[in-house]
Amino acid sequence: MVRKESLDMMQSHYVNRILLGDCEQVLKFIPDDSFDLIFTSPPYADQRKSTYGGIKPDEYVEWFLPKSAELLRVLKPTGTFILNIKERVVDGERHTYVLQLIQELRKQGWLWTEEFIWHKKNSHPGKWPNRFRDNWERLLQFNKEKKFYMDQDAVKVPVGDWSQKRLLNLSETDMMRDNSRVGSGFGKNVSNWLDRDMVYPSNVIHMATECGNKSHSAAFPLSLPSWFIKLFTKPGDIVLDPFIGSGTTAVAATELGRNYTGIEILEEYVELSNSQLEGIQIKIPMIAEEGGNYSVEEDEND
Ligand SMILES: C[S@@+](CC[C@H](N)C(=O)[O-])C[C@H]1O[C@@H](n2cnc3c(N)ncnc32)[C@H](O)[C@@H]1O
Repeated sequence: MVRKESLDMMQSHYVNRILLGDCEQVLKFIPDDSFDLIFTSPPYADQRKSTYGGIKPDEYVEWFLPKSAELLRVLKPTGTFILNIKERVVDGERHTYVLQLIQELRKQGWLWTEEFIWHKKNSHPGKWPNRFRDNWERLLQFNKEKKFYMDQDAVKVPVGDWSQKRLLNLSETDMMRDNSRVGSGFGKNVSNWLDRDMVYPSNVIHMATECGNKSHSAAFPLSLPSWFIKLFTKPGDIVLDPFIGSGTTAVAATELGRNYTGIEILEEYVELSNSQLEGIQIKIPMIAEEGGNYSVEEDEND
């Protein structure tokens, strides 16, 4: 229980605000267990030096860990942390800082629950001497607990013509539960899904890179945070982006009736975020229950 007055004060400081500063420092002023979802795309190693400085690939993990320690503290036990990141090529090889970071985050106490792949549908063609064009990014999912909030129905997708094509080729085993022949217990029952209009998506997300935001060199499309906000939060929940850039995560949260907190080290991007948010109606801004009980609803998860 938190007293109503102190809750009001805390909320007025960071709820639905874009805060200026280094997230590592700013987060120290935010109470434990404050956020339902952390969704962010930190600066990529050694890139975009011209705009906001890069971190050397060899120093990336060391740079990130004190920040993720604060993120672990401010995330609610039922919450989720989604990290949009992709290793760059250094001296002809993929650098391993993302892989090292995953291992260090696990040591820090995070559970590495899942890895989503963002397939960039519209990446432009090109020719490189020893590789093909980079067409995807990682969205690493970390949690504090195995039991976290997830609304899978919120991101169902139309089944399309898959069921029609599959129906034509339906075998005997498709009509019954087809347990794995190696005895793993894994089974499928395709016929169960044939008459559904909507099905669950996979962990590969197909989205265009267009973001309509030309004022920030590394903005992601609005649809990216929107998808994860729908999946991992409820209306009225609160979403943190500690590297908010042009404010995309805050816009997505607001449009979906969630609260946000953004942190950004450059003043020009704080201003840009605030201008993006102007005129967007906050639909469900309250996170506190009557009486100031700062609570998290119990949800049924696997
Ligand atoms: C990849 S961009 C994020 C872009 C954002 N997703 C968007 O859609 O606009 C990373 C942002 O983190 C900011 N940044 C870098 N270091 C930071 C720090 N220590 N604390 C807070 N923000 C930081 C940069 O200025 C940059 O705007």
